[in-house]
Amino acid sequence: MSKKVLAIYFTQSGQLGDIISHFTRPLTDDQDIAVEVVQIFPEKEFPFPWTSSTFFDAMPESVDGIPAPLKAFTFKEKNYDLIIIGYQPWFLSPSIPVSSLLQHPDFKPLLRNTPVVTISGCRNMWINAQEKIKIRLKDAGARLVGNIALVDRHNNYISLVTILYWMLGGKKNRKWGIFPKPGVSDEDIENASVFGETVKQFVQKNEWQGLQYRLVAQKAVEVKYPLMFIERKAGKIFRIWSSIIHKKKNRSAWLVVFKYYLLIALCVAAPIILLVDGIFFKPFLGKRIKKQLTYYAGVELESKAI
Ligand SMILES: Cc1cc2nc3c(=O)[nH]c(=O)nc-3n(C[C@H](O)[C@H](O)[C@H](O)COP(=O)(O)O)c2cc1C
Repeated sequence: MSKKVLAIYFTQSGQLGDIISHFTRPLTDDQDIAVEVVQIFPEKEFPFPWTSSTFFDAMPESVDGIPAPLKAFTFKEKNYDLIIIGYQPWFLSPSIPVSSLLQHPDFKPLLRNTPVVTISGCRNMWINAQEKIKIRLKDAGARLVGNIALVDRHNNYISLVTILYWMLGGKKNRKWGIFPKPGVSDEDIENASVFGETVKQFVQKNEWQGLQYRLVAQKAVEVKYPLMFIERKAGKIFRIWSSIIHKKKNRSAWLVVFKYYLLIALCVAAPIILLVDGIFFKPFLGKRIKKQLTYYAGVELESKAI
């Protein structure tokens, strides 16, 4: 009997669309698997390229998971053997369109009792967003069986410069011909088919035990300690900022304050805190850190992980 797979995603620049098409290719090539690909669109499009103010304006609603209306979408089937969700983090949270999808009355019921594989394409900070996705999937009664996180592998500060250049300028090319190309590399996007091949083998058997273990072995997800350290702290701080900004009447002025706070926190405070942690704490917390790294690379959900 042929298997039914739904791949659903959102993208602004097309990067996630490319990732999904390479990732699903091995499944599409299999005659016994019917793959349906659906791209979602918000009713009111988010700007691309962004301006500085529209970019930061997306923070509170991203962090709090406040849904925005989506354009109507339809599915060919009433249930699927596997649902693939392609998403991008926005401010350490699932992007507003994907968060809206996960809460949508026309999509949420489809997730019930269904295996789900998530695949993200981002700068390099995805673990908080993935934890939030785990919670939404659990709430919908879905079973998360696999996760793939594709990132920009360049240095954290270089990728900060290049992602802002890309998001605010709209071009995924080399800033001044000097900086590297922003985002997930073309090579890593093409390589997503390797992970698709692995997922295909599990779809064929309809047996999901061990999928994430295989994906981790193939380096489909790599959790880096310094980024995990920053994200664990920043996730909590973002929640405080979003609740402050929601209460303020002069939202745009507060978003400017948040922007400068964020730049200072990332470029000045984070390296100092990481240095202090590296000298005084990290050397004594080896076991706990290893457990955390393994946890975030996995598909289980622990309360209090974010
Ligand atoms: C508003 C906004 C916030 C973002 N926040 C993050 C983030 O927290 N972590 C991260 O790694 N990338 C972040 N990114 C980059 C996106 O995850 C993604 O890589 C990029 O937007 C390209 O995705 P696309 O396929 O929608 O074009 C952000 C992008 C935008 C537009």
